[in-house]
Amino acid sequence: MSATAILNAARTIGGQVQPHLSFRDLRKVYPDGVAALDGVSADVPRGQFCVVLGPSGSGKSTLLRVVNGLTSLSSGQMTLGDLPMSAANLRAIRRKVAMVHQLFNLTERASVSANVLAGAVAEVPFWRVMLGWYPAELRARACEVVARVGLDEIHLPRRAVALSGGQQQRVGIARAFLLRPEVILADEPVASLDPAISREVLGLLREAGREQGATVMCSLHQTDLAREFADRIIGMRKGRVVFDGPPHLFDARAEAALYEGLTPPAQAQPRKEALHA
Ligand SMILES: Nc1ncnc2c1ncn2[C@@H]1O[C@H](COP(=O)(O)OP(=O)(O)OP(=O)(O)O)[C@@H](O)[C@H]1O
Ligand SMILES: [Mg+2]
Repeated sequence: MSATAILNAARTIGGQVQPHLSFRDLRKVYPDGVAALDGVSADVPRGQFCVVLGPSGSGKSTLLRVVNGLTSLSSGQMTLGDLPMSAANLRAIRRKVAMVHQLFNLTERASVSANVLAGAVAEVPFWRVMLGWYPAELRARACEVVARVGLDEIHLPRRAVALSGGQQQRVGIARAFLLRPEVILADEPVASLDPAISREVLGLLREAGREQGATVMCSLHQTDLAREFADRIIGMRKGRVVFDGPPHLFDARAEAALYEGLTPPAQAQPRKEALHA
């Protein structure tokens, strides 16, 4: 039995698995009339690595941003565990959710350790953040997550800008996992990385998520990476879900339907020079 299956079994109530994230008929219409989400419904079980695929502008980022309340809904309901998204629950929900960004969002001139500890700023008094006086327990946890993402301790005092792109995204992942979030939102976390590093980073994200029983919502453009890493693929087009299922069912036909009439997405092929290496 997989870790996800065990966790889900533990959360079965009255024979029904309680979803970790529940999306009910989500609609988001921007003031200019663009319907970024046009009736999205899905249940995501705890611990699932859920990849959101779709052409540019299909609503992937909007869906992810609904989960931490960065985008407010026009109608519909997002629920995390037993907390429906509302102004009153926003803070409690945000404490359970962390983000991994496409461009890493690190403070480049700050050290790796300061960047990882920044994952706790919302929980630490402001004066401690300003003085860099983080509690010992938090510092120990920072070392733990840095080791978990495969970065040597030697990197801790280095400035983030001195690291490679792959290393910077490892710092981004360590920061996201610092406070043991229930949900990780990763919006195109490998878009700025080359294919080999992309695989390492996605593997890391998936394994770290599994270890902690965290649910991961990850948007991608590369369908081959989605097939390789996802437990489940949600395919979006024009704000609607047009595919929802396990990766083995996301065949060439499903892919063609998702991107029909549009430029096919880039795949994570090795670079030419790598082939000749
Ligand atoms: N703040 C905003 N104001 C107006 N329209 C917006 C805003 N944010 C997004 N949109 C529109 O909503 C739609 C969905 O955008 P979204 O960023 O969710 O797409 P996406 O699937 O993440 O695209 P990409 O793959 O390019 O990142 C697009 O048509 C976009 O132009
Ligand atoms: Mg996007």
